[in-house]
Parts: sequence; C-alpha cells; structure tokens
Amino acid sequence: MKKVLVATEKPFAPVAVNQIREAFDKAGYACDFFEKYGNQDELVAAVKEAEALIVRSDKITSEVINAADNLKIVVRAGAGYDNIDLKAATEHGVAVMNTPGQNSNAVAELALGMMVYQARNHFNGTSGRELKGKKLGIHAYGHVGKLVARIAKGFGIGIYAFDPFIPAEEIEKDGVIVCSTAEDMYAISDYVSLHIPANEKTKDSINYELLSKMKEDAVLVNTARKEVINEEGLLKIFEERSGFQYVSDIAPDNAKILSNKYGNRCFFTPKKMGAQTAEANINAGIAAARQIINFFEHGDTTFVVN
Ligand code: 3PG
Repeated sequence: MKKVLVATEKPFAPVAVNQIREAFDKAGYACDFFEKYGNQDELVAAVKEAEALIVRSDKITSEVINAADNLKIVVRAGAGYDNIDLKAATEHGVAVMNTPGQNSNAVAELALGMMVYQARNHFNGTSGRELKGKKLGIHAYGHVGKLVARIAKGFGIGIYAFDPFIPAEEIEKDGVIVCSTAEDMYAISDYVSLHIPANEKTKDSINYELLSKMKEDAVLVNTARKEVINEEGLLKIFEERSGFQYVSDIAPDNAKILSNKYGNRCFFTPKKMGAQTAEANINAGIAAARQIINFFEHGDTTFVVN
C-alpha cells in the first residue's frame, strides 16, 4: 500500500481534508495528515515512511528529502514551488510537481479585497476612495493575473499588464492594455498588483528604481512573495513619499518598522491568506491527490517542475 503524507503547517479546510482522504481511500493508498507542526525537526521526523508528499508553503529542504528514504514524489498543492529544494529532489530521484491554476481565483479575490480595504482606509470610519476609474497595473499575466483583470473589470478599473513571456495579443483579447516595460506600467498605475514567482531572477527585483517610477500616492499590492521586494528600497520610498502605500499577503521582514512609522499606509496579513479558502483547498488538494495517483499508476509526469 502506497504511503502518502499530507504535511501542511497551515492546514487545508476540513472539507478538503475529507475529499483528499476519500480520493486516496478509493485508490487503496494510505494517507496521513500532519498539520500545524511546530518546527522543521518535527517535519523531518514525520516524512520518514512517506512515498509521496502533498505540501503547501512547507519548507521541503534537502534535510526533509534526505530523511524520506522511500520518497518518489512531492506535490506542492499550489502554484509557487520556491519552498522546495529542487536540486536536492532531483539528486534523490524525487519528482516535484505543482498544481497550477487550482488556487488562483482565491488569490485574485484577495488582491482585489486588499485593494478595497486599503482604498477604504481599513474601514476605520473615514472617507476613502473608490476603485472605479483608477488604473491597475498587473505585473505578470499568468493564472492569477488574468483573474485579477477579470474581477477588476467589474469595478470599472482601467487595466494594464506587463508580462514579457505572454504574447501581447493574448493579453489584449481580455481588454487589457499591454505595457512594453515594467517601468511604463508602474508609472501609469494607481495600483500595481504583483503576480511574479520568487526565483533567482525576480528576488529583490521590485526595487527602489522601479518603485520610484510610481505615482506619489500609489498602492503596491503583493499577493506573490515577500522575497520579490527589495525591502531597503521599499523603506526608502515610504520615507520619501507621504502617500505611498503597501499591502501584502504576508508581512515583510521590516513589517514592524513600516507599521510603526506608517500605520494605515500598510497592511499585512498575519499568515499567507491568498489560497486559504475551502474552494482553493479542495481544488489544489484534489488535483495533488490525482497527480500522485496518476504518477504511480500510469507514470504520468504532467506538471513535473524538476
Ligand atoms: C501558491 O503559491 O500557491 C500560493 O502562494 C498559496 O500558498 P499556500 O498554499 O501556502 O497558502
């Protein structure tokens, strides 16, 4: 009997847990859930017997991979796999997959939700602003970016996008104006929403130079990764501009400094909330279960990223 471990420090919704359990029961696989663990040592100990892992933003380091002698596959139930040591996985013959698109709507809704929250002064009783008629720049037009555009249209927002990897015609089909440089898009936008992955090329790439192109009272919305922001540059922009705002799904390292100094000009979720809906948990969790079963039963390697 194949042994699967669902290792999620931030657990899936109970309804998703039940459906994942059912999927593995039907396939005749043993499936354990290891949730809300306290530290990496506990994770290292828990993976010992696993042949397959389903994880979220859990840190799958070389230590974790080394500890799982029978491990064949890790599926990141979600989009970004920057939390997995791909080199160590490859060296150990472990396939790594993600489940692209499965939790995108939840993240897109949160991006718009955070924009409303910020525009309405955190619902503190004072008069805020409306989103209608404002300009939104979408940095990277993948699964999430596309959905952000679709939802933003309903608000009557003017939508711009920058994504050098997607043909302009494809983006334009959605009624979105394509910018040929990030700088152009940052300059024109009242809001910029980030949807780039965190990798060697993008880490620290949202820096002072780029942020300084933004309007005086622009809002930067980050439901991507904190690592893509150069925090020194961000701090400098806050210091120089009295209207600049930053909302992020997960706090930056300098969150305390920003919140103490700039109060409502920033907002940070205490935990990564973008994909934390029952629907996203079901979609991504079930996709991960299906991918593991297809991998073992049919050698299906669709969605392998290493
Ligand atoms: C993703 O990359 O899919 C999102 O950031 C969600 O991450 P989470 O599963 O840890 O909430």
